[in-house]
Amino acid sequence: MPSPPRKTAKITAVGKYLPEKILTNFDLEKMMDTTDEWIRTRTGIIERHIVADGEATSHMATKAAEEVLRKRQIGADEIDCIIIATMTPDMIFPSTAALVQHQLGASKAWGFDLSAACSGFLFALDTGARMIQSGQYQKLLVVGADTMSSILDYTDRSTSILFGDGAGAVLLEPCEDGREGIIDSILRTDGIGSDSLYMEAGGSLHPASAETVANKQHYLRQDGRSVFKYAVKWMAEVSAELAARNGLKSKDIQLFIPHQANKRIIDASAERLGLSEDQVLSNIDRYANTTAATIPLGMADAIDQKRLKPGDNVLLAAFGAGFTWGAMYIRWGEVL
Ligand code: UT7
Repeated sequence: MPSPPRKTAKITAVGKYLPEKILTNFDLEKMMDTTDEWIRTRTGIIERHIVADGEATSHMATKAAEEVLRKRQIGADEIDCIIIATMTPDMIFPSTAALVQHQLGASKAWGFDLSAACSGFLFALDTGARMIQSGQYQKLLVVGADTMSSILDYTDRSTSILFGDGAGAVLLEPCEDGREGIIDSILRTDGIGSDSLYMEAGGSLHPASAETVANKQHYLRQDGRSVFKYAVKWMAEVSAELAARNGLKSKDIQLFIPHQANKRIIDASAERLGLSEDQVLSNIDRYANTTAATIPLGMADAIDQKRLKPGDNVLLAAFGAGFTWGAMYIRWGEVL
């Protein structure tokens, strides 16, 4: 007897939000010892968006989610669950998901935050897909949102130039015949990277004190070269492994949407997969690294630029603090 079709979770709408204020490389030249030329050639970044005073992760996440609801023409009360991937929550608790639930008016939703740094959206999308597949949920919001400017030391040129603020959101719904949606994924974590990219204080190990503030321990710290080395190797490896086990040759992949940390990392991963430039989504020039938001922002831009159509094979990949990394294969459908 043929096995029944495997239900999948499909993305039915994508929304994005970027704060109005733009910080260019030339603005940074005036703030620290750096140049537009260095930033452009070493990272591919030209400018990034930065939140206004009083604007935080929950506000950006809510705006991206509102766009999803608008496009899909559904009310917030139809949402069953909200997963927020972020490493810059408004507060350590309550969760940003609780704040977004309230701001949206999603009266029937429960939700939680998921912390996996730059891989957060990928991990959250996978988690949300499993929840949809369980049959218990019909409409689930997955949001990637980060206010990186809130944890950057703007006297440290090696980190502050790399990041920006933003949010992207998707709606997951069941696809009963499994013909489209999230087909497969490989996710990984290895704490070997815990001293390569971190924020030291403000947690239970080093609670906030006058001393932690004086020592600048509430800022992101990164050993860029080490992260670069692992990112190139492991993000490319996991993408290649996922493509191979799904029988995807380079010509079969219509769009690769990688995490946007450095144009050189994106190019190395694309090269390893044998992809040409038109098969790769890159928007790091305008947004920089928005951590959990890079992949949904990439999806939103791909839709706006009409680079996706139903039936396309889409590969996502991410690498970030932890280390965390992974890849996901999506068969694209009708996405608003
Ligand atoms: O998404 C989370 C994961 N994060 C990442 O994937 C980031 C991975 N790492 C990177 O993207 C790169 O390592 C960076 C962009 C952070 C740095 O690029 P790099 O080519 O590895 O530069 P470097 O750290 O080796 O520094 C080269 C030189 C140094 O000067 P010396 O020692 O050679 O004289 C730095 O002091 O560039 C200097 N430098 C800068 N110069 C001008 C570092 N930052 C800057 C700057 N402007 N902003």
